Amino acid sequence: MTAITNPAIPLAPARPRLLRPPGVYRPQDDTWMLANALRDSGMPRGARVLDLCTGTGALAVTAARHGAASVIAADISRLALATVWANARLRGLPIRPLRGSAAAATRTGPFDVVLANPPYVPCPVPASGAARAWDAGPDGRVVLDEICALAASLVAPGGYLLMVHSAVAGPEKSLAQLREAGTTPAVVAARSLPFGPVMRARAGFLEAVGLITAGQRHEELVVIRADRP
Ligand SMILES: C[S@@+](CC[C@H](N)C(=O)[O-])C[C@H]1O[C@@H](n2cnc3c(N)ncnc32)[C@H](O)[C@@H]1O
Repeated sequence: MTAITNPAIPLAPARPRLLRPPGVYRPQDDTWMLANALRDSGMPRGARVLDLCTGTGALAVTAARHGAASVIAADISRLALATVWANARLRGLPIRPLRGSAAAATRTGPFDVVLANPPYVPCPVPASGAARAWDAGPDGRVVLDEICALAASLVAPGGYLLMVHSAVAGPEKSLAQLREAGTTPAVVAARSLPFGPVMRARAGFLEAVGLITAGQRHEELVVIRADRP
């Protein structure tokens, strides 16, 4: 796929200092790429925001600081929800934790802006324990597929979804599914990075199933924006 690299978007925006107990995903490059895309997206003040797969709430906090009127922070992990609750309370921000996935969030929506940094690392076995923060089935698309299918129910008319994932998990599939769901998607940022520890450990499997080329040890992260007419 053709990369759209935007050198104007640095990997290091203002990063909130967050509580992060062991077992909750440490905000990293994908988090900050999405935070930058949010900052540059023209989010209207007073927006109703959903942060799907919230982890520490790094993106929920970023949205609230950028003027969101309310933020729902959804995750399947109770520990993540306790963490985002604490991070929001410490700052007095209007963030409400919600236990569940995209389907649960449709019952509290729709939203002007939906943010998602879901698990997207391909994995031969079902995700368990802390790895549920990154492992996402054999093609990395278990959660991506759900979010894309529900995009039109999550995003209010005139609103948009911003979602980040690795090119290893098939951005062209996300784009096709988001189109199918009635939104207008495009890759708005991309960046090539060396594999981190999880991808390095998974490289043999990824090569064996043809998701990376032999010897490939870098991945492209992409941010997709999908607008709902
Ligand atoms: C890659 S982490 C992202 C955390 C945070 N948004 C960030 O950018 O730093 C993914 C998060 O999704 C959560 N998660 C995994 N499967 C999920 C699902 N089906 N629905 C909602 N959250 C899920 C995990 O518990 C984890 O906190």
